[in-house]
Amino acid sequence: MKILLLGKNGQVGWELQRSLAPLGELIALDHDSKDFCGDFTDLDGLAQTVRAVAPDVIVNAAAHTAVDKAESEPELVRTLNALAPGVLAQEARRAGAWLIHYSTDYVFDGGGEKPWLETDPVAPLSVYGATKLEGEQLILQSGCQHLIFRTSWVYGARGGNFAKTMLRLASERESLSVIDDQIGAPTGADLLADITAHAIRTVRQRPELSGLYHLVAGGETSWHGYASFVIDFARCAGIPLKVAPDAIKPVPTSAFPTAARRPHNSRMDTTKLQHAFDLKLPAWEIGVARMLSEVLDKS
Ligand SMILES: NC(=O)c1ccc[n+]([C@@H]2O[C@H](COP(=O)([O-])OP(=O)(O)OC[C@H]3O[C@@H](n4cnc5c(N)ncnc54)[C@H](OP(=O)(O)O)[C@@H]3O)[C@@H](O)[C@H]2O)c1
Repeated sequence: MKILLLGKNGQVGWELQRSLAPLGELIALDHDSKDFCGDFTDLDGLAQTVRAVAPDVIVNAAAHTAVDKAESEPELVRTLNALAPGVLAQEARRAGAWLIHYSTDYVFDGGGEKPWLETDPVAPLSVYGATKLEGEQLILQSGCQHLIFRTSWVYGARGGNFAKTMLRLASERESLSVIDDQIGAPTGADLLADITAHAIRTVRQRPELSGLYHLVAGGETSWHGYASFVIDFARCAGIPLKVAPDAIKPVPTSAFPTAARRPHNSRMDTTKLQHAFDLKLPAWEIGVARMLSEVLDKS
């Protein structure tokens, strides 16, 4: 099997380099790759790359993910999050290849308290959410065989992440304020990559599983719950912290005004994925604890 991976150096792309390698020949690109064009602002170049590589599977981990910045550069965001995946889908359809793509809970308006189903109505609140939704739609319209995984609150051990920011703040400040009215599930880039590899193997045998799936870790929490978990973990590991255990204050979203509106309810129902691919999604705490162990080992 020949796999073309785009966005190889992002959080998910990095983990995919590891998880996809055993499946076959992996050609992994980022936006400044030299041999082939992996730049999502060059739509013709991208199409030529797919034609030259002739992959069996295209995995797209590239995207414009700076949610607040996206509000001020909507055309660029649309090119990266919608038009480029649309080109990949057209080329996948032409070549008979699979397209694996990631989307987001930000396609929803975040109302209510029930976990979102794949069939629930979408109503994005932001440029990022709207362009990710358009990307999904262009993939569906192309008629290519695809897997679209909508995920949320993604973290990786490499680079910056919410947990590392909380650890830094907890070592510098006596009190912290963290949002407690957005609910979701922190989801590891490693989990996404491992499930992607498993799903690719499965759909090659069972093409009828082509479709849209919600993919997040099990359970739910708020950013406040997430921060409290991270800080407790570090305290138990003997990391010196300035913040007292009772000085992590829950605050509403309105306490931190941002350019982009974010959904309050990011709960995702993953029943469809778990049944289709015979999987069990581990509780979010398991992945976060593992990531923290790696991060704290290095600090
Ligand atoms: N992060 C989240 O919380 C989250 C939540 C829900 C869904 N998702 C989705 O999950 C997928 C993976 O996200 P992630 O967290 O791994 O994102 P990420 O770490 O921001 O990675 C995105 C990648 O896209 C690359 N990229 C940016 N501009 C590009 C261009 N012009 N051409 C080609 N590549 C370009 C980036 O490269 P540079 O860094 O070099 O610019 C980066 O490697 C995305 O589809 C995202 O929408 C993410």
